Amino acid sequence: MTKQQGKEPAVWQLVNVVIKPKWLELAIDFAIGLGSSAAVETPSGFQVAFPGAESDAAEALGALKSYLLGIGTGAEVSTMPVVERDWNANWKAFFKPTQIGDRLWVIPEWENPDLLGDAIVIRIRPAMAFGTGTHETTQLCMEFLETVMKGGESVLDIGAGSGILGITALKLGAQSVLGVEIDAAAAENFHENAELNGVSDGITLQITPEPMLDSVFEVGVANMIQSRLEAALPYYHDAVKPGGTVILSGVLAKDDTSFRAFLDEKLPWRIVDARTKNEWIGYQCIVE
Ligand SMILES: C[S@@+](CC[C@H](N)C(=O)[O-])C[C@H]1O[C@@H](n2cnc3c(N)ncnc32)[C@H](O)[C@@H]1O
Repeated sequence: MTKQQGKEPAVWQLVNVVIKPKWLELAIDFAIGLGSSAAVETPSGFQVAFPGAESDAAEALGALKSYLLGIGTGAEVSTMPVVERDWNANWKAFFKPTQIGDRLWVIPEWENPDLLGDAIVIRIRPAMAFGTGTHETTQLCMEFLETVMKGGESVLDIGAGSGILGITALKLGAQSVLGVEIDAAAAENFHENAELNGVSDGITLQITPEPMLDSVFEVGVANMIQSRLEAALPYYHDAVKPGGTVILSGVLAKDDTSFRAFLDEKLPWRIVDARTKNEWIGYQCIVE
């Protein structure tokens, strides 16, 4: 892992990956899992950045290249050092306002597009934490939240990252949100984004793999790749009250059957709706 905590390093290693669309999400997930910054999708693939000098990022870069080669993507990977200012400029070139669902818009913090009056805006500062809304798995969760949220709910955001899902829930009327995250490096961006959206009062964050929950929630949402969902979710067996809703995303549609088998065996959550976006599938579950 190359994530560094505290002050942002001045130098980053910008990685440009040219890759076929069918491999894009897997490759991004892998890069994020290695500790890269959130990914920016480009017309030919994606870019990520690892903080630090080339030697600091070498291990992660090597692992990314071997992975992409090993699964037969045929991806072309090039790297160049960039200073933080250029990385920020890079974000600005690729991270654009995105509509999700009917009324949700994810907007980079520097943009002020003209939107319809009923638009619900979530402002995001791209940073080390995953969660700019450019990834289908995040978008699936946001679409389900738009359908499910009625107002006044307590919401648990498991694997909160940038805070985008908790912030979305609050913008849709949630009363409160608890985010849980294992990566302490996400905390700064989580709180920045809460502040950008004016929802800091309603949202808190626990950094832990084994949460201490002193209440039961009405809605739970988790977006992580399947192996992490399966490792984390048993800790949340009783976290959402019977009759409540759990939204899950991060599973490849081709692994639908195995994930359903996991849920059947391990959790009292019954799938009532499933949606796909490209290779990904997301689920809305009711708690029994
Ligand atoms: C794919 S990102 C999702 C970020 C954001 N919620 C979104 O939807 O865009 C998954 C996040 O889950 C976190 N994570 C992984 N395993 C976890 C665990 N066992 N408990 C809590 N967070 C975890 C990762 O650090 C990462 O920030």
